Amino acid sequence: MLNHKRADFPDGFLFGAATSAYQIEGHSFGGAGRAMWDDFAATPGNVVRAEDGAVACDHYHQYETDLDLLKDGGFDAYRFSTSWARVMPDGRTVNPEGLDFYDRLTDAMLERGLKPMATLYHWELPSALADLGGWRNRDIANWFGDFTESIMGRLGDRMYSVATINEFWCVSWLSHFLGQHPPGVRDIRATARAMHYVLLAHGTSVERMRGMGVKNLGAVFNMEWAAPADDSAASIEAAAVYDDYYNNFFVSGAFKGAYPDRLVKALGPHLPDGWQDDFKTITAPLDWAGINYYSRSLLAGIDGPWPHLHTVPGSLEKTEMGWEVYPRGLHDFLVRTARDYTGDLPLYVTENGMANADSVVNGAVDDAARIAYFNSHLGAVRDAIAKGVPVKGYMAWSLLDNYEWALGYEKRFGMVHVDFETLERTPKASWHAFKGMLAG
Ligand code: FCB
Repeated sequence: MLNHKRADFPDGFLFGAATSAYQIEGHSFGGAGRAMWDDFAATPGNVVRAEDGAVACDHYHQYETDLDLLKDGGFDAYRFSTSWARVMPDGRTVNPEGLDFYDRLTDAMLERGLKPMATLYHWELPSALADLGGWRNRDIANWFGDFTESIMGRLGDRMYSVATINEFWCVSWLSHFLGQHPPGVRDIRATARAMHYVLLAHGTSVERMRGMGVKNLGAVFNMEWAAPADDSAASIEAAAVYDDYYNNFFVSGAFKGAYPDRLVKALGPHLPDGWQDDFKTITAPLDWAGINYYSRSLLAGIDGPWPHLHTVPGSLEKTEMGWEVYPRGLHDFLVRTARDYTGDLPLYVTENGMANADSVVNGAVDDAARIAYFNSHLGAVRDAIAKGVPVKGYMAWSLLDNYEWALGYEKRFGMVHVDFETLERTPKASWHAFKGMLAG
């Protein structure tokens, strides 16, 4: 059971669940083009069991069943993403079937009284654009602007909100510095460019949507609490560097029109000439900001090239991802983001949840650990609200077990279990717990 009530949150607070296109739809259906995740997964060693999103949860065909799960659970909103590779298989030419799918999906949400919260880009980059350098090519800002116009030309009048990018850090750092997501590059110059261009693409997309009259625009930033592993000066500096490139860089760019000094020093030589001139676009005003929060990391200093740090294992309880459960970080990020970057702007928790080794036993899934996780993190949200932070909604990650990227189908984040052989959906105890809370 969740030990919160709807009435514990402000009037109009939205409860929802989040998913993303490539993780659930099935990219072999409906004329979608090749996405960079297809290529990454087809390269041995990148993804557990080399699994890809060809079928995923078959949401492309079963979306009505899935939206019924949201409605029956009493949720107010659905955060979904619109695959660029589905809408524009070669990155630039429209696939009418793709637009039709999102049109049907939108109507099906509205018929059920669910508020559509779209994310334009949740990593479904068409391979044809990856061939041209993807996020390392400055032209991506305009390509993304064109995609924005195509999809929002069709859906824009019916969206509750639209976010440009999901998780700037993952698009740039995780994919071009750590190489854990496509294009699987490990190169500091590629990283610096991707970090800057993903922000430029965001700003360009916002400007295009303003021009079209699309309302309630935002972006989704992932944040991980960074703490020093011990009280040495090297560990304290390591945590500050990590905090800057993980958490501060993107919100600072989007809301302040500046990058943290440490990062200008380290990455400046790799940024494109005249990068400061792009802040005019990057700071295009927003109506809200989203925070995705899961965990914290402990950092210590090491010798070697910048950023001179590594993560060390912490002692808190861990989820199936090996991520520490640290609800305080969600509270602290909400408070800090409002204080340092967004002021009175509405904030949303756009993702929060945990992976658990769930299985169906006698037709039920007892994911008590996930209920405890939601309980503690909803408590952190309430604490932030009590301090005056304008948090307006909470989206659980995720509605369904789905394709967890480089970990394939092995890690289950859903409030609804999916059998990836039969595609049968089974609501877990956490879904029932939300239903109980939202009805009360
Ligand atoms: C986030 C992603 C989401 C999901 C969760 C577990 O980084 O946005 O797609 O994979 O992590």
